Amino acid sequence: MIQIGFIGAGKMAEAMMAGFIEKRVMAPDEILAGDVSGERLAEVSRKQGVRITMDNAEVVRAARVCVLAVKPQQLNEVLRNLAPHFTPDHLIISIAAGKTTGYLESLLPNGRVVRVMPNIACLVGEGMNVYTRGTRATTKDSEQVARLLGCCGKAAELPEALFDAVTALSGSGPAFFAYLLDRFVDGAVQEGLPRRQALTLATQTLLGTARLLMESGMEPADLAGAVTSAKGTTAAGRAVLETPEMADLLSRTIAAAARRSRELAGA
Ligand SMILES: NC(=O)c1ccc[n+]([C@@H]2O[C@H](COP(=O)([O-])OP(=O)(O)OC[C@H]3O[C@@H](n4cnc5c(N)ncnc54)[C@H](OP(=O)(O)O)[C@@H]3O)[C@@H](O)[C@H]2O)c1
Repeated sequence: MIQIGFIGAGKMAEAMMAGFIEKRVMAPDEILAGDVSGERLAEVSRKQGVRITMDNAEVVRAARVCVLAVKPQQLNEVLRNLAPHFTPDHLIISIAAGKTTGYLESLLPNGRVVRVMPNIACLVGEGMNVYTRGTRATTKDSEQVARLLGCCGKAAELPEALFDAVTALSGSGPAFFAYLLDRFVDGAVQEGLPRRQALTLATQTLLGTARLLMESGMEPADLAGAVTSAKGTTAAGRAVLETPEMADLLSRTIAAAARRSRELAGA
């Protein structure tokens, strides 16, 4: 029996499927993936072993829990076509950036809606997944969504008003951290480190820093202070990095992503 269906079988859908399968909450053949691309479906089927279809309505008929995983700009058309197929029994999980529960409920007269902002680290079970309930969704729906998202990393329920900030920070965040890491790696390569070793050193340093912050509960500024001695190497690097311009650039990065999330609401 199909436990969950995906409308759109792209990168994020696959990351979530991988989490469910890895944590054995469902078998691959209990997942049905729908997409317009036969090539993409063949790839997901080969990599994850899930069932596939090119008919979105088949996904809705087969699965009581459906994840809307197409691009925000594709959602309107998808929902207009699928709306008649949803019943009050459906739990509809949307991961589309910017699309509010109000918008989803206005297009879907049936079904309980939960909006989720996941991130790509679900692929390795370390996603940060934030969710919020639509007006028809129940506490039980929240619990079910939290359980599912827990297979892909951490899950947290937050008010929908915070979702543009969430989208910018944890939804888009992997790309921002990856970019910064890449620039540090470039610098290390210029200092003579082979790129592969530089990547290993940088990724483990990022992972270790994140774990240290999470497990100690330390403030980031205190951690930075703890590894900085007067006139030492870290102090020399921080003097270059920590300028008002850099602080402004990074905060504008988050602001631009949040602004785009607000724009996507109307796309
Ligand atoms: N990627 C991330 O890190 C991330 C993080 C948080 C949230 N999200 C959200 O997750 C959603 C999916 O993003 P993604 O990065 O996974 O995108 P993606 O890789 O482009 O996946 C979307 C898939 O849906 C397919 N599709 C297009 N129209 C369709 C239709 N009418 N019916 C069924 N499938 C259709 C696309 O096919 P074509 O390529 O042929 O159009 C593509 O395979 C977006 O709404 C995004 O906001 C993504």
